[in-house]
Amino acid sequence: MSKTRIAVLISGNGSNLQALIEAAKMPDYPAEIALVISNKPDVFGLKRAEEASIKHLTIDHTDYDSRAAFDLALDNALIEHDIAFVCLAGFMRVLTEAFVEKWAGRMINIHPSLLPKYKGLNTHQRALDDGQAEHGCTVHWVSVGVDEGEIIAQESLEILPTDTADILQARVHALEHQLYPKALAIALQSQP
Ligand code: GRF
Repeated sequence: MSKTRIAVLISGNGSNLQALIEAAKMPDYPAEIALVISNKPDVFGLKRAEEASIKHLTIDHTDYDSRAAFDLALDNALIEHDIAFVCLAGFMRVLTEAFVEKWAGRMINIHPSLLPKYKGLNTHQRALDDGQAEHGCTVHWVSVGVDEGEIIAQESLEILPTDTADILQARVHALEHQLYPKALAIALQSQP
């Protein structure tokens, strides 16, 4: 089968990248991780790419004097590597409207909450502070509003009395690793 060429954009540890790398090893998985880009040098996710013999680049946002210039460099790298679809996985930069519009319908993100609840940061502590009974993670299409795109898939868990923000983060992370490969496959099925 022909596999869609994916780029995964990261800023750090890359455990979701690892989950996608493992899934893509399966012969019938519809995606190939063809490129990993980090906006920060020397992060662990780049080592994961190297270990898996996946082409990887740092495009350091501090080398660019505007968001538009950084996003243009990203776009050029995606085109140069013949990338058809983008997965954001812990990528901590807000993308420009022009970039998002160009990749609309071909770019997804994973977020550690049950969207539309808890857009933005510190999602685990905020869910605890609000006394939520459940929490989880979401994969969604990337649209111009941050964490606002149409939802592709979610996984949830029950918040336990023993949960702290750190414990909850670890529990949600484990769910994310199951969710992202499934959601990417669903997203690719919906491609024209
Ligand atoms: C994940 O919790 C993801 O939902 C959020 O950033 C974190 C990245 O973790 N957007 P990792 O780098 O994939 O380990």
